[in-house]
Amino acid sequence: MVNRMSVLITDFRAECAVEVNYNTSKKSSPDSEGTSSNFSTAIMKKQGSDGNPAPVMPALPEPLKDLKIKYTKIFINNEWHDSVSGKKFAVFNPATEEKICEVEEGDKADVDKAVKAARKAFELGSTWRTMDASERGRLLNKLADLVERDRLILATMETIDGGKLFSTAYLMDLGACIKTLRYCAGWADKIHGRTVPMDGNFFTFTRHEPIGVCGQIIPWNFPLVMFIWKIAPALCCGNTVVVKPAEQTPLSALYMGSLIKEAGFPPGVVNIVPGFGPTAGAAISHHMDIDKVSFTGSTEVGKLIKEAAGKSNLKRVTLELGGKSPNIIFADADLDAAVEFAHIGLFYHQGQCCIAGSRIFVEEPIYEEFVRRSIERAKKYTLGDPLKPGVQQGPQIDKEQYEKILELIESGKKEGAKLECGGGPWGDKGYFIQPTVFSNVTDDMRIAKEEIFGPVQQIMKFKTIDEVIKRANNTTYGLAAAVFTKDIDKALTFAAALQAGTVWVNCYSALSAQCPFGGFKMSGNGRELGEYGLHEYTEVKTVTIKIPQKNS
Ligand code: NAI
Ligand code: MG
Repeated sequence: MVNRMSVLITDFRAECAVEVNYNTSKKSSPDSEGTSSNFSTAIMKKQGSDGNPAPVMPALPEPLKDLKIKYTKIFINNEWHDSVSGKKFAVFNPATEEKICEVEEGDKADVDKAVKAARKAFELGSTWRTMDASERGRLLNKLADLVERDRLILATMETIDGGKLFSTAYLMDLGACIKTLRYCAGWADKIHGRTVPMDGNFFTFTRHEPIGVCGQIIPWNFPLVMFIWKIAPALCCGNTVVVKPAEQTPLSALYMGSLIKEAGFPPGVVNIVPGFGPTAGAAISHHMDIDKVSFTGSTEVGKLIKEAAGKSNLKRVTLELGGKSPNIIFADADLDAAVEFAHIGLFYHQGQCCIAGSRIFVEEPIYEEFVRRSIERAKKYTLGDPLKPGVQQGPQIDKEQYEKILELIESGKKEGAKLECGGGPWGDKGYFIQPTVFSNVTDDMRIAKEEIFGPVQQIMKFKTIDEVIKRANNTTYGLAAAVFTKDIDKALTFAAALQAGTVWVNCYSALSAQCPFGGFKMSGNGRELGEYGLHEYTEVKTVTIKIPQKNS
């Protein structure tokens, strides 16, 4: 029997929100009558009528019932190692608070071992360095094939380890991983320098060389996506890597170790050291033999990483940090679409996204209606076990984040914002928080300034264009921004005026492997993905050859 349920989700490359069909019979079945009549369906239909078909999604299988965790050790030189200290740490399921398994706890000594292996793999004459660039591309494509083969295992793992909705993990995260691997695979043999018309009698050209050993420190909100966003560009440019997954979510990265070996990457090219930030993470950022560190996480730790790079060997640094992204809704916007995108742009993955549109500025004439519809939308949520079909919101990642969010909600209440719905914990186990909407928020409130990283929406009012540009930019962050309007002049004005690495017009969360991603101001340094992202993984070398002068 086909049991259809609709789950709302945004496409990672998200032209729009789409309805996904749960198909518990595992047969693929296009749904025509099973979708509910909510805003996302309206958007999808509209896109169809505009001649832009909604994205094609694979049918969603059921998650694996009895997932066995096979890989819990440190991955160095394509082998599994115990930690030098003998220590292990526990990994928990945030939906149940139950222990899943224990993982070897890497520290400085393990990072040293991993760096040695990565350095050896990077030496001139090593298999990796002598390999044809096209062969590096083939290996990345092979890895994409293996991720596709094991999509169900990895998606189930992401759900159990990180509390991510299974539908999101399977369709969005795994989809993005596969596409990013293939995108970078395609670049491997297309990275080249230029000839330069140097003054004098010289032949000058540039080489775009790999930087060397890259340390990569990743967070828990998109464990697998971040792993791939880090390794794929680094490897396609010919670097070797030492990755430290977040202590909350090490399992999918370790599973990837097994696939990297199976794909045929030479030993030492990818090394994975699970462990904690102040120990294993700091060992990477301070390491004298790591040439570049790339980090995604909090601004606070981003600063420590840059400081450590400065105090050690001035390693190259790219940082993708937090945000407090403005989302500006004009009265002339398509209100259905604006409410839906604003909602998804904040509540996606329990609000645990660096790009979350957490400052929503709504033009005065539509403010009340926008708030009314946003509350109605937020109240529709089904919370629960993220493995279950129909559940639309899972738990926050851990107690620390859960408490941080609840404390910020309390500050919003105290500082005079109007709590429209939610506002507290949900359920009796797991780190669940009710979808929360605040209206009458002013710019000086903590909930309007600090990154909440939870399912808490702030809705503010504005009157004029000049005012809202100033207010939108009045933040230390600058990761993303959006504007909703049918007026092209306004859209282009905001595209230029907003201080953010990404500006969306009439959409939100639209990311893709081809597009550079990163922040202005304290949201980070450098860009990931796209061709610009590759520049962060190469050194440019100028080669100048004297041409003998002929006397004519
Ligand atoms: P965090 O920045 O502490 O953790 C991210 C990664 O950095 C983890 O792998 C962690 O082990 C590592 N790390 C921690 N301290 C380190 C150190 N001294 N040296 C090197 N590596 C270190 O983030 P946390 O504590 O998990 O979350 C705090 C806040 O950060 C969140 O509430 C959210 O506001 C923000 N955040 C932003 C993310 C993003 O996508 N930009 C992702 C995760 C958190
Ligand atoms: Mg931290």
